[in-house]
Amino acid sequence: MNPLSISAADFPASRTCTYLNSANVALMYRGASDAIIAWQQDVAANGSNNFDESAEEAVFAELHDAGARLFSATADDICVGSSATELISSLAWAAMPPTGANIVSADIAFPTAVYPWARVAKHTGCEIRLAEAHRGYVDPGALMGLIDENTVVVSLSHVEYRSGQRYDLAAFAEAAHAHNAILVVDATQSAGAVPIDAPADGVDVVIAGGYKWLCGPFGAAIMYVSPQLCSSLEPGLVGFRSNADIWNIDATQIVYPGNASRFEFSTMAYGCAIGLTSAIEFLNHVGIESIFDHNQSLADALISGLMDRGVEVTSPRSPAERSAIVTAQFAGLDSSDVTERFKESDIRVACRQDVVRFSPHLYNEMVDIEAALSCVDAILA
Ligand SMILES: Cc1ncc(COP(=O)(O)O)c(C=O)c1O
Repeated sequence: MNPLSISAADFPASRTCTYLNSANVALMYRGASDAIIAWQQDVAANGSNNFDESAEEAVFAELHDAGARLFSATADDICVGSSATELISSLAWAAMPPTGANIVSADIAFPTAVYPWARVAKHTGCEIRLAEAHRGYVDPGALMGLIDENTVVVSLSHVEYRSGQRYDLAAFAEAAHAHNAILVVDATQSAGAVPIDAPADGVDVVIAGGYKWLCGPFGAAIMYVSPQLCSSLEPGLVGFRSNADIWNIDATQIVYPGNASRFEFSTMAYGCAIGLTSAIEFLNHVGIESIFDHNQSLADALISGLMDRGVEVTSPRSPAERSAIVTAQFAGLDSSDVTERFKESDIRVACRQDVVRFSPHLYNEMVDIEAALSCVDAILA
């Protein structure tokens, strides 16, 4: 019995194999996949007969509402895009730090938190400063130590994709703001699994793609932009939807909305946005705090089981720096071979660089951890 009362019907695939790979692609919430299919079939059969202008507007409005509840923000502070990378790219050109300025991040960050800024830096001549990870761990103090009076942006992956390290957002917001910099958080590896209160933490921007811990589809992502910051940003990507009145199709002028939807610029795979809304509403209903606790208890059992068997756990173990991502190294064994051995037993984990990565989520149960540990026994035998 799942302690969160998640039923097999909510995530049917969770009963077909032992899926511990949400940091790669999570299983999609059934309500989300049903909604996507229904939308696609309706448009295929009826064109815009049902999906008229007001229906199109409702798609974004409903995702704004769901995203606002997820990040404890207001709907005006949320916008929708097709991927985390797209939203960060538009933001990077909007912020466009000038020559002499610097952007601080970590060398272990998923490239989405760095490449868009590096592209802008190539254009303006600003500097990219990356804190160096040692044995996969970034010292938060060392990262903060790179922030100075010329820092314009601190770009952080809330949870690191290959080590599971989680940063204290409030502490980083304080460090950034002390130097008049903004904190931009890529929450693709945390949103849906780790509670995020963007206004309370003082974070300026939070971005999350839909297909990982949010249990939604590829093709939809959300971004929170603080109301203080929003009006000073001219989006890097613009199109007919960038106009405050999207139905005023007038190529001679553009008036941006006063809220975060200024970052919405085009049509999109609307079914994906509808699916993401359904998934986020489901997670909000279950409760992110409860999901966090559930995932931590699975991660706890996995960590102690691995350590009992002499496997080296390489992800952080302190409560403040942990997430549901657990990484490990098996002495004398190649991590990609170990990952294959799990797959042969129908247990899905990932190999990232030199570690095996486990990432349980709300649909997993203790029996999945037991199955993974039995497989570890077989691998070590
Ligand atoms: C931290 C992080 N950010 C962003 C992405 C990619 O996001 P998207 O595909 O929405 O651009 C990933 C994918 O693994 C990731 O781990």
